[in-house]
Amino acid sequence: MKTHIILLGPPGAGKGTQGQLIGEKLNIPFISSGDALREEFGGNTEIAEKFKKYINAGLLVPDDVVEEFIETLLDKYNLEKGFIFDGFPRTVHQAGFIMDYLKAKNIPLDVVLYLSIPDEEVVKRISGRRICPKCGAVYNIYFNPPKNDNLCDKCGAKLVQRDDDKENVVEKRIKVYEKETAPLIEFFKEKQLLKEIDAVGSVESVQYRIQEVLNG
Ligand code: AP5
Repeated sequence: MKTHIILLGPPGAGKGTQGQLIGEKLNIPFISSGDALREEFGGNTEIAEKFKKYINAGLLVPDDVVEEFIETLLDKYNLEKGFIFDGFPRTVHQAGFIMDYLKAKNIPLDVVLYLSIPDEEVVKRISGRRICPKCGAVYNIYFNPPKNDNLCDKCGAKLVQRDDDKENVVEKRIKVYEKETAPLIEFFKEKQLLKEIDAVGSVESVQYRIQEVLNG
């Protein structure tokens, strides 16, 4: 069973949705750089303001800043039994950084799951996304609505829309993904770590495809 996992894919591909489910099923930490950066927003620190500026414009936080942040974040977890990384690495530089980090701690990387999905599906998914600001659960008003209108099924908090989910910012995020992150497909293919998953279809059917790869 593969338990040391990186999730790769465009914005809205379902990385967060699938990552949370795998994490719960395998009882391994699900670590999302996007969620961790957004959590920082809560504090009115200088660094939080800096993050906000990049994220709300659909740009990547610069490698040096984000790598330091991710290192501190990862140090809080025991990664030996496994992990699921969502949202990082996101540039070739970050990929080198993560590979070095794992190697230094003698922790393997088993597989990079590339969730592949067409752009038009991305826009549909993102425009309907609502998130729980309290527990991080992700919903979609079209595909996966909460049971009670606009309230989180898990903790009852009022759901919100992410600032970077507005249409003009989404377009920018897709462009940034194609330029900065898509080269990682080739990077991990060369290392024979990449497995492509068709991410179109229901949450359950995508989860089934992922399980098959992890079991194999
Ligand atoms: P981040 O939070 O990582 O955003 P992202 O990569 O753009 O991915 P998303 O969270 O938008 O999508 P997802 O693939 O997780 O999809 P989800 O499961 O939610 O990053 C945000 C920003 O932070 C970046 O732009 C950058 O500024 C910064 N940042 C983060 N990491 C960084 C790094 N390493 N370096 C530099 N900057 C960094 O699903 C989307 C919607 O679709 C949901 O509504 C969901 O319910 C629905 N859905 C999911 N699966 C299905 C399905 N099968 N069918 C129908 N609907 C579905």
